Amino acid sequence: MSKLSLPKDKIKVVLLEGIHDNAIHALNVSGYANVDSYPGALDGVALREALADAHIVGIRSRTRLTAQVIQQAPKLMAVGCFCIGTNQVDLSAAKMAGIPVFNAPYSNTRSVAELVLGEIIMLYRGIPEKSAAAHAGRWLKTAKGAHEIRGKKLGIIGYGHIGSQLSILAEALGMEVQYFDVVNKLALGNAKACHTMDLLLRTSDIVTLHVPSTPQTKGMFGASEIALMKKGAMLVNASRGNVVDIDALAAALQDGQIGGAAIDVFPSEPADNGDEFTSPLRGIPNVILTPHVGGSTQEAQANIGTEVAEKLITYSDNGSTLGAVNFMEVALPVQGTQTRFLHIHRNVPGVISRINDIFSAKGINISGQYLRTDGEIGYVVVDVEADIQPGMGFRRELEAIDGTLRVRFLF
Ligand code: NAI
Repeated sequence: MSKLSLPKDKIKVVLLEGIHDNAIHALNVSGYANVDSYPGALDGVALREALADAHIVGIRSRTRLTAQVIQQAPKLMAVGCFCIGTNQVDLSAAKMAGIPVFNAPYSNTRSVAELVLGEIIMLYRGIPEKSAAAHAGRWLKTAKGAHEIRGKKLGIIGYGHIGSQLSILAEALGMEVQYFDVVNKLALGNAKACHTMDLLLRTSDIVTLHVPSTPQTKGMFGASEIALMKKGAMLVNASRGNVVDIDALAAALQDGQIGGAAIDVFPSEPADNGDEFTSPLRGIPNVILTPHVGGSTQEAQANIGTEVAEKLITYSDNGSTLGAVNFMEVALPVQGTQTRFLHIHRNVPGVISRINDIFSAKGINISGQYLRTDGEIGYVVVDVEADIQPGMGFRRELEAIDGTLRVRFLF
């Protein structure tokens, strides 16, 4: 069978911002040898030049892929954000150019869970104050108010990737775990589900938040939730900065309703390391303040390198868009002997019948067809068992269909 798709070693991959070597390794072992890796972010002319003939680009949070940048990268077929957030990419412009964008939402789950567990131990021993005192030359040796975490009741709000991982780790240290989630989640280990958040708040010694950022979670934890907690209970938030009312928390810490807190995310965070961090929580004893580093470890970076590279490889190799943030998710069977056509188009009536007409006019039988649409675009994948030769006119005819955004062949 002749090959009409672009050979893998001709597919140019550009990685910016010092993406972990795991990504390069994963790409290389899958046959993508043409990888340019840059240590920093690029912008302006340098970015345009780097992407002028790139098929795949990998970035982290500092490279901005605006509509204009995307438009000036005519060969670009996929974007990998080797991080969690995707705000740095104009997702809509990418979608309308037929470019799926992938990220790595869960590669740092373990890192967050470990930090939270460590903070729980530190809070129960009053370490923030004792450490600050020792740094200032004061010796605070006392067992007063210091406790083991064994046997304490941990209340986890949001039993997703991080919440459930923490549940396992905390039980291993002898904590009693209960959780509340808006979705019915299977309890891991000996953890118990609470049917209401109120019940969890009234009965937990320490509460930790692991909810996503949604309109419902914005400000979900304020003075009334804090008032339901046991007097002197602890609070941890390493989820999103707008989930907890920080003023209410500061007041509750000052009056002893809350016995200690560990906060990693804030309503407003400094843009750069040199900028001042301001918060009503500064200076309050038994409060651990960390600069949004819950997921920031070398191991998480390594996992992100592998996870995003694999999503890009899978999309390039077989068209699957699983894990794309701006695109319909299509899970495709591994391609066998079939020839696979990928067609991304604006979601206007008649495109599928035009595609099918092209195959039937050439007497070619379709062995598999996968279609997903949203309000704006459609993504159709067509598998055929036929010897497709150059010069049969498929590309020209498929590209000529009104509304076509991108056509790819895999064979
Ligand atoms: P996930 O999506 O796996 O889990 C979230 C869980 O919260 C789901 O089970 C969902 O059903 C539940 N949920 C949603 N709304 C809820 C509500 N109103 N009340 C109770 N439960 C609710 O997310 P994952 O990966 O566990 O992440 C959790 C949070 O941690 C996210 O906000 C994420 O942005 C944040 N995060 C923070 C990091 C850091 O550096 N501090 C690093 C990684 C994630």
